[in-house]
Amino acid sequence: MSEIIFSARSLTKRYRRLHALDSVNMEVRRGDIYGFVGENGAGKTTLIRVLAGLAAPDGGEIALFGETGGLAKGRRRIGGMVETPAVYPNFTARENLEVCRMQRGIADRRSIDRALETVGLTDTGKKKAKNFSLGMKQRLGLAMALLGDPEFLILDEPVNGLDPAGIMEFRELLRKLNAERGITILISSHLLAELFQLATCYGFIHKGRMLEQVTIADLTEKFHKQLHLRVDDPDRAIAVLEAHSFGGRKLMAERTGGNALRISDMPKSNADIVRALVAGGVGVEEVAVRGDALEDYYMSLIGGRR
Ligand SMILES: Nc1ncnc2c1ncn2[C@@H]1O[C@H](COP(=O)(O)OP(=O)(O)OP(=O)(O)O)[C@@H](O)[C@H]1O
Ligand SMILES: [Mg+2]
Repeated sequence: MSEIIFSARSLTKRYRRLHALDSVNMEVRRGDIYGFVGENGAGKTTLIRVLAGLAAPDGGEIALFGETGGLAKGRRRIGGMVETPAVYPNFTARENLEVCRMQRGIADRRSIDRALETVGLTDTGKKKAKNFSLGMKQRLGLAMALLGDPEFLILDEPVNGLDPAGIMEFRELLRKLNAERGITILISSHLLAELFQLATCYGFIHKGRMLEQVTIADLTEKFHKQLHLRVDDPDRAIAVLEAHSFGGRKLMAERTGGNALRISDMPKSNADIVRALVAGGVGVEEVAVRGDALEDYYMSLIGGRR
């Protein structure tokens, strides 16, 4: 089990009589990409503000890197982007980062080049931030968050307003930061679909309460998800699957157009399916597990609580 780098215990935050956070328990482990999902007003930003030290809780406790006291030290190991990043519109990307570096007392000037390069803003030269596209602004915000080489990156709805291509690009960037630099990421969204195929675990918050935290592994155990395949010979693939038994079970495969197949009642291991197909002389070009089940699961969690 990897180290828990952030935890909340019975965390409560009230605004008058409203419980923005109602006894929330939460755990983020090192290396996670934690998808923090909840509808508008669920309490995501509030939790992130408490975590970042921008708001004081009314009850409960948080721990950062195993420490519950002296959180300022832990917070220096965190980089954050809370909603739309505050940038100086008349400054270039580099100038914005320079201001940010000085404000935060980061001595290493090379950190600016590193951050610009990481987010792909090295070539924006004299262009002022006010003339940036939304995607570029978000990347500048990310560069700011990355300045101090954080171990833990907190992003509050970073893809809000981005188009699908922008979302994909941002997702790839985060995946890379996680895989190559081992940065743990907490990312919130009110749309589950935006985090799909990125998050390694999810926390579902609703009306200030944490409904459930699940890992992708838990979900795979819990659900028969759909497996989508693209093969070179779909008819042959169906014949191979029909002739095969998986853990004493037959699989139902159906064609979904072109060379695509869908297997709805999925066994535990996709490897067995691919192995059987390849052994049967079928070329497997693409394998994807679709998140319909996750979507259903989420809806069933919040259903009846609206
Ligand atoms: N400063 C504040 N004063 C009063 N109420 C607040 C304040 N900040 C948040 N709230 C309330 O707390 C609840 C949780 O808000 P929060 O911003 O944390 O939700 P959210 O999950 O981030 O939503 P969104 O997806 O819209 O960003 C909401 O009902 C909100 O109106
Ligand atoms: Mg919010």
